[in-house]
Amino acid sequence: MSIRPNSIEARDVARVLHPYTNAVAHEQVGPMMIERGDGIYVVDNEGNRYIEGLAGLFCASLGFSEQRLVDAAHRQMQKLPFYHSFGGRSHDTAVELAERLVDLSPVPMSKVFFANSGSEANDTAIKLAWYYHNSIGRPAKKKIISRMRAYHGVTIASASLTGLVNNHRDFDLPMDRILHTECPLHYRYANPGEDEEAFATRCADALEQLIQKEGPETVAAFFAEPLMASGGCIVPPPTYYEKIQAILRKYEILLIADEVICGFGRTGNMFGCETFDLKPDVITMAKQLSAAYQPIAAVMINERVYSAVRDASGKIGTFGHGFTYGGHPVATAVALETLKIYEERDIVNHVRSIMGEFQSGLKSFADHPLVGDARGAGLIGALELVSNKESKEIFNPSWGVAAHVGERALKHGLITRALGDTVNFCPPMIITKAEIGEMYARARRALDDTYAWLQAGRPVAAAWRSN
Ligand SMILES: Cc1ncc(COP(=O)(O)O)c(C=O)c1O
Repeated sequence: MSIRPNSIEARDVARVLHPYTNAVAHEQVGPMMIERGDGIYVVDNEGNRYIEGLAGLFCASLGFSEQRLVDAAHRQMQKLPFYHSFGGRSHDTAVELAERLVDLSPVPMSKVFFANSGSEANDTAIKLAWYYHNSIGRPAKKKIISRMRAYHGVTIASASLTGLVNNHRDFDLPMDRILHTECPLHYRYANPGEDEEAFATRCADALEQLIQKEGPETVAAFFAEPLMASGGCIVPPPTYYEKIQAILRKYEILLIADEVICGFGRTGNMFGCETFDLKPDVITMAKQLSAAYQPIAAVMINERVYSAVRDASGKIGTFGHGFTYGGHPVATAVALETLKIYEERDIVNHVRSIMGEFQSGLKSFADHPLVGDARGAGLIGALELVSNKESKEIFNPSWGVAAHVGERALKHGLITRALGDTVNFCPPMIITKAEIGEMYARARRALDDTYAWLQAGRPVAAAWRSN
């Protein structure tokens, strides 16, 4: 393989260890250099324009050239470029943002803790669950249940929550105390003839059996992305969450909703918890909170959790947790401006007005010979590729078929993302109906190319930018 035409020299790229990249293949092909952004487009160093069909990493909700966010960062840099929140210190943008988030919350919440990434927010939520149960005199409640194919991040604890093989393999994860239950993807995991209702019941039963096996007195919390994005856009069936939440209440297990991708309009409501009727005790959020223009994340806790945390910190003498850059003035200023823009432009209603087009366009791929399932909600969706539509048989993973679609999509001016056997779409929320049509037209060309490639003979592994 030669150096990619739009890459810089190999010696110049050797210093970056790229996340989610095959390092061996990368040494040969080099990076794809993105130089600038313009609305829903990004432009590489050869001037090629791409529709960013994944909003970067499910995050650049307002596209790549929102001047108001640039200005908000600039203003804040001039006023107060840094201050922290340790030891009771504060500054106005952190205070205002926390207030705003509590106002927006889908369930009554009490306090907001700031972090810098989704992984940190989820790690914090785990620590808070332990702190909470210790504080209320249930020190045995320590186990956390997540789901297979969940994605909650990459730090030691959040990677353990993540239910994907490559996040565990050779990292000696998951750590103990973290367990995984059934993945609620009907298309892939339902038994033959099992309808959605019966499947939801079976998933809930499996959760209850796990809790009973482990001992309910040892289980602290259950983590859920309302819609499981990085696992391949998994939309749980109706009644699933109703059944799951009844079990969590029965065994006094905290519900932690990971809104890192769903939050701020993505599913057609401000939060995924509204779309899927979740009533969490803790909510974690990041990404679209700042439209990705600044790294910022938050953990929102209800009064029950807060009062236990308050009591424990009073007893110990401090709440011994915090990040230097948590609640950073520039990040909080940009997040505040982002929320203002969402409100002024009524982003939730904008998503609602285009999500029909987005979902019906996605469903129209069902006729494609490579597509077994087309699924999604709001402005997020995925195509699951299969080698046999009847039996749902998957392709040999070493062929990197979904990755090949991603490569062909680049040639047609579209960036999307292969996750396992799925091709994912999650464009900036400012996308228009016409642009959705153009995005899918480019995706169809990529699928057709891939079909032709498969027909032409045995593919060679194409996994070098598979994730
Ligand atoms: C649902 C969810 N939670 C947590 C994370 C981790 O966020 P970060 O990459 O900012 O650590 C992600 C990242 O994609 C995510 O999708």
